[in-house]
Amino acid sequence: MAYENLKVSVKKGILILTINREKALNALNSKTMEELQHFFSVSAPRRKTIKGIVITGAGEKAFVAGADIKEFLALDEGKGAAMAKRGQNVFRLIETFNKPVIAAVNGFALGGGCELAMACHMRIAGEKAKFGQPEVNLGIIPGYGGTQRMIQLVGKGKAIELLTTGDMINAEEAHRLGLVNHVVPQGEEVKKASEIIEKIASKAPIAIAKVIECVDAYFNGVYDGFAVEVEEFGATSGTEDFKEGAAAFIERRKANFKGK
Ligand code: CAA
Repeated sequence: MAYENLKVSVKKGILILTINREKALNALNSKTMEELQHFFSVSAPRRKTIKGIVITGAGEKAFVAGADIKEFLALDEGKGAAMAKRGQNVFRLIETFNKPVIAAVNGFALGGGCELAMACHMRIAGEKAKFGQPEVNLGIIPGYGGTQRMIQLVGKGKAIELLTTGDMINAEEAHRLGLVNHVVPQGEEVKKASEIIEKIASKAPIAIAKVIECVDAYFNGVYDGFAVEVEEFGATSGTEDFKEGAAAFIERRKANFKGK
């Protein structure tokens, strides 16, 4: 599928996915959501050799300024619920992707943009980045998982404040709250995210996928995370990579992991 609003490039095995609607501050219209769904359900899983994915926004001003407000006038109760369900499903594909997905937040991350960043496994912010959930200004609430993931990242009290006031916070404040992992000089977000993915790529790929799965199990409300950890610890104990990792430690050499 040729994408209209996504730009895909691969640099040293790291896939850079750019939301590419600069004139609309990379707002997520339905076409972009359709493309994200295709990308994470069809295209990305086929790219077996990538080390991970960095998501960023085109231009210097915005990561993503939210869902596309220009499509909102057509919404009613049923269409709104369907839009939220679809958005949640798309972002869940990101959250459960078996390789690291890192948001490189280069500017405004508002509404659905903040939600997109929160669905990623980590967030790197440029020093001019701004975060917020301003939906209440429009008379709606976040619909792409924001009311839930904000609590997971910053805790209930601060989440309710951000979600009810619609206040925008800067990168430093987002870092202080635990919403972002690192703040870097403006323009270096993709570089920092790539460095983290490069480091993770030197570890055993199955172990990385299982860590993502176990951490997710804590939050998804369906599984007992401790039971998932027992199962996945067992699964990693049976891999060739585990034998290689343990042997490499004992032999004082660098492990050569194969993802088996
Ligand atoms: N949807 C559609 N278009 C948007 C947009 C959005 N979310 N955000 C910005 N744009 C467009 C503007 O309409 C404008 O386009 P035109 O030049 O064609 O008029 C262009 O991007 C530039 O924006 P501004 O002129 O507004 O730029 P600014 O520097 O003055 O302000 C901003 C920047 C503070 C980010 C402001 O654009 C803004 O507040 N945007 C909306 C943010 C928002 O409310 N997001 C939440 C959406 S709801 C949501 O996301 C629901 C959900 O959970 C799924």
